[in-house]
Amino acid sequence: MTREVHSVEETWALAREIAQMLKPGDIVCLEGDLGAGKTTFTQGLAKALGVGGRVTSPTFCIVQEHRAADPEPGAPSMLVHMDLYRLHGEDDVIAIGWEDYLAQGAVLVVEWPERAGSLIPPGAMHIEFRHTEGDESRLINIVPSETEVPHGRIDSRS
Ligand SMILES: Nc1ncnc2c1ncn2[C@@H]1O[C@H](COP(=O)(O)OP(=O)(O)OP(=O)(O)O)[C@@H](O)[C@H]1O
Ligand SMILES: [Mg+2]
Repeated sequence: MTREVHSVEETWALAREIAQMLKPGDIVCLEGDLGAGKTTFTQGLAKALGVGGRVTSPTFCIVQEHRAADPEPGAPSMLVHMDLYRLHGEDDVIAIGWEDYLAQGAVLVVEWPERAGSLIPPGAMHIEFRHTEGDESRLINIVPSETEVPHGRIDSRS
């Protein structure tokens, strides 16, 4: 499913729709160029889940935990935002607490997921961000998880 958005507010609105589908332990991979809107989308998820702390695009911080003060029953109580750009492989990703966060029922929102290699399970959600015409326009493609596609992948992501 590809959606075109025309403002930051529309990106947040789409994030709110996605947030409603998220369960503890889900992994959301955000892909796309610098400035495509991955962190902005994560802000929308955080607002919708009611988790605390400002979502930023930190230069030195690789992982930020955002906890919900008062989570809905069954909803994730923590969003963990990871920007793996500066990491070099799976060992690094485990060292920052990947498995511990999943065991705690966090939702992991991952920028530069390719750094995590095989730690990304087939059931992960992938969302691709692209610039399009207009400064504030973006194409946001929500790729079905591999486990939801009964006859193999429709698109050909490498
Ligand atoms: N429709 C839109 N959706 C998201 N961001 C938008 C939109 N229109 C304009 N922007 C702006 O584009 C920038 C997106 O930056 P953001 O940090 O979200 O990108 P990113 O994909 O996380 O980049 P990086 O790879 O550097 O982390 C922000 O300055 C934001 O205000
Ligand atoms: Mg970012």
